[in-house]
Amino acid sequence: MNSDSKEQYLIEKEPYYKEVHDEISLYEAAYAARLPMMVKGPTGCGKSRFVEYMAWRLKRPLITVACNEDMTASDLVGRFLLDKDGTKWQDGPLTTAARIGAICYLDEIVEARQDTTVVIHPLTDHRRTLPLDKKGELIQAHPDFQLVISFNPGYQSSMKDLKQSTKQRFGALDFSYPERTIEVEIVAHESGVSEDMAEKLVSIAERSRNLKGHGLDEGLSTRMLIYAGALIQKGVAPIAACSMALVRPITDDPDMRDALDAAVGTFF
Ligand SMILES: Nc1ncnc2c1ncn2[C@@H]1O[C@H](COP(=O)(O)OP(=O)(O)OP(=O)(O)O)[C@@H](O)[C@H]1O
Ligand SMILES: [Mg+2]
Repeated sequence: MNSDSKEQYLIEKEPYYKEVHDEISLYEAAYAARLPMMVKGPTGCGKSRFVEYMAWRLKRPLITVACNEDMTASDLVGRFLLDKDGTKWQDGPLTTAARIGAICYLDEIVEARQDTTVVIHPLTDHRRTLPLDKKGELIQAHPDFQLVISFNPGYQSSMKDLKQSTKQRFGALDFSYPERTIEVEIVAHESGVSEDMAEKLVSIAERSRNLKGHGLDEGLSTRMLIYAGALIQKGVAPIAACSMALVRPITDDPDMRDALDAAVGTFF
């Protein structure tokens, strides 16, 4: 990766983001203070879109890393690669971000193993450094660098929680599904359906969200509503679209499917 090419990580076009509370100004203050941030909330509620929007708004390059349990510290920091001329160091995404002054977004951080997660520690306190042990280099983060992590609280077993020493290095913003009128606007904008149709989809989601903990692990997300709307826009009948985009993906339990189908039936 050519770590000089900051332009390739800039977001050119304004991402559509509808503010839900006062998260934009809070994030701006956090960025101004270079406070590492954590965005928490259920799947499909707008966390990633918010981070993209903020990177655009702050005119910072954005480097996103989808974390998983096989990820090693080298995947983040970098490694020596063998080529025909010998070995060559290649920066990992975290190192690139620290060098060029990007916002580095570690998505689903709890999926990473704890020995991987600790590499972010020196970057997220007063030191703002990143040691490349294998290379024998200590990077001082660019003044514009900021780290953002996301996770879905509640899904994780305690096994998969973040260590206190990691948590306590971040400020946090809680995300949840937006209030009704805002969610209707988002679903209509993103899928192209009418406000009237978006309202019906949001009403179905609201019912499903009441079933959380009563047979559903999680209610229908904004993302799923957008998928259903997109199918409807493609000419799929609303009941079939809801079955395909909302009911079938979220549960295999026959009773739950009946309950959700009934909710769909109320509106279509
Ligand atoms: N406030 C919002 N403004 C604009 N779009 C939104 C908003 N909230 C949700 N969306 C829409 O919902 C979709 C899903 O949001 P996003 O991908 O940001 O979810 P997420 O919280 O990152 O989920 P996950 O935890 O699964 O990664 C986005 O693609 C976007 O279309
Ligand atoms: Mg996301």
